Amino acid sequence: MTELLEPRAIGQSLVRRDGVAKVRGTATYAFETPVPHPAYASVVQATIARGRVTAMDTTAAEALDGVLTVLTPFNAERLASTEDWEYAVLQSPEVAFRGQLIGVVVAETSELARQAADAVHVTYAEQPHDSVLSAGRDDLYAPEQVNAGYETDTAEGDVAAAMATAHVTVEQTYETAMYHNNPLEPHATTALWEPDGDVLLTLWDSTQGVHPDRAAVSEVFGLDKEQVRVVCPYVGGGFGSKGNPHANVMLATMAARALPGRAVKLALTRQQMFFLVGYRTPTIQRMQLAADRTGRLQAIAIDVVEQTSKVKEFAEQTGVPTRMMYASPSRRTTHRLAALDVPIPSWMRAPGECPGMFGPEVALDELANELGIDPVQLRIVNEPPVDPETGKPWSSRHLVECLREGAQRFGWDSRGARGHRDGDWLVGLGVASSVYPTMRQATSTASVRYEGGRYVAEIGAADLGTGAWTVLPQIAADALGVDVADVEVRIGDTRYPTASVAGGSSGTNTWGSAITVAAREFRGKFGTDPREGDQASGDVDQASTDSDHAAYAFGAQFAEVRVHADTGEVRVPRLIGVFAAGRIINPRTARSQLIGGMTMGLSMALHENSVFDTRIGQVANHDLGEYHITVNADVGEMAAHWLDEHDPWVNVMGSKGIGEIGITGTAAAVVNAVHHATGVRVRKLPVTLDKLLAGLDDLS
Ligand code: MOS
Repeated sequence: MTELLEPRAIGQSLVRRDGVAKVRGTATYAFETPVPHPAYASVVQATIARGRVTAMDTTAAEALDGVLTVLTPFNAERLASTEDWEYAVLQSPEVAFRGQLIGVVVAETSELARQAADAVHVTYAEQPHDSVLSAGRDDLYAPEQVNAGYETDTAEGDVAAAMATAHVTVEQTYETAMYHNNPLEPHATTALWEPDGDVLLTLWDSTQGVHPDRAAVSEVFGLDKEQVRVVCPYVGGGFGSKGNPHANVMLATMAARALPGRAVKLALTRQQMFFLVGYRTPTIQRMQLAADRTGRLQAIAIDVVEQTSKVKEFAEQTGVPTRMMYASPSRRTTHRLAALDVPIPSWMRAPGECPGMFGPEVALDELANELGIDPVQLRIVNEPPVDPETGKPWSSRHLVECLREGAQRFGWDSRGARGHRDGDWLVGLGVASSVYPTMRQATSTASVRYEGGRYVAEIGAADLGTGAWTVLPQIAADALGVDVADVEVRIGDTRYPTASVAGGSSGTNTWGSAITVAAREFRGKFGTDPREGDQASGDVDQASTDSDHAAYAFGAQFAEVRVHADTGEVRVPRLIGVFAAGRIINPRTARSQLIGGMTMGLSMALHENSVFDTRIGQVANHDLGEYHITVNADVGEMAAHWLDEHDPWVNVMGSKGIGEIGITGTAAAVVNAVHHATGVRVRKLPVTLDKLLAGLDDLS
């Protein structure tokens, strides 16, 4: 058990420390980093889905006045490491997916670079490609493990026997779409190669982690880490797409190395991001539920089919939340992949839990209907006393309390078995649970120094827009026992101590733990009356650990939908989430995270859908004109609440991580509400009106 920090700054709704600079436009992002006399890069992408580049005629591009260099697979430098296929840019003429990077042009202006990139003439030897995901493929395979190191398959008891004998069963297949991260700030890098410096390479890169970014780049180029500096004070969103560098960062570095002393700027366009910076795989989830007449589960199973690229595996851990959400004597989870000629999938907000809380949470709603049990009650009767997977006690689990408080705030109890009609609109209410594991990374170091009468903590953390600039000082202040105004925290530079990626909702837990260790070390060494320059450091390794408990944040989401009886238009006037996510460090930034996640979940429910044209092997709607995202006009009343949860096991802050849980369960709550309103069960996202119209006809 950990004695939690005395919360003084923690828990305050302090305003963002970076807010003024962002609102005034003085916060510099990677691409706009001021450097003398920059050059601009533009990429060349493959226009076939599979095959090989046989020739690239760069004559016309090079002839343009102001073009500085054109790199192709035929003239680019050979990289020190080509182990990671994605990073081995321009190392081979092979083309593994449409949109793959096959060249880069650097010129005096960005317009010229783009013009020159268009002027590169490419010839290919094209081969047939295969980009069709289906559960019926005969080449599906089981990966060695799934993302975040989870087991691929798990089994307990006998699902088939329970399905054969149970009072009620549900057996259905649910599908989530392909989704692309669209952070406001595109993936962008300013790269400077200075062969005579101590630091050979400086990257101002939009990244979720300067140190992981540096580690990847230095390995690919065979550099010592100390020869590379990565700087990133501000990020315009990442959602996982900047959690690992993608090939564009390697290409920017390569371009800079071709022009020593000249900073090169490379930003992907919005359209290019749909090929190059990862995406969430579509998922096909076959669910089986068996229950007794009281609703107690006798079996729960999920068999997931999803895709990866042939050249680099990413296995979304979609089945993982089914392992721990509800009590059931028999359980099975499996993951199978189709390796296709498609871009490389990767992290997107709550990989695993986001798609994996769709099928099961809709199936539970179907089960509740079959049984005539209230869906909130059905979840409550299946509350597991310990983690079904490991048998460990929960560090804290307040799902039932979230469901009850949400039901009360939402007015759930007035909900009848069917929705009601309000003029032309069919109105319904739905619920689903949310979950996200509580994580802390193994690596992160912080220093605390007394400087100019203030306490300065340094750590190479990242603020994706999430609030790290603001909440880390709150933690440091409480760890030092000083006023938060007397604390400055510096992040976003590899010159500061090594920090973990801002991913897995683990940033605050990890960096805050390291800062606390450093602060205690500082106090231990220098007492409460330090002198200028006194400094101590601390590592997250030294923070108290606990492996005896299963640690997760939980939540419940309630949606009201209105479906137009004639057109099938869907509106969501109300979405309320109640979360139990440990101690909330800063209510202002936390609310923003939770509501942001819920909005993204609403977007998944109604709008987002990367339509993959399997004839040519690319996303057809690869821009924001056609890839629809929930916008302000689509959001009605949206509220995030939380319980005052005390968890002494997770870390010294008692915090659980809130960046991702908000997107989990949301789409299921909306789909369940649509069913309540219309009687139509949509099992394939998004809920577009074409999926409702036939069912609406049946109503009239
Ligand atoms: Mo998040 S997908 O863990 O960056």
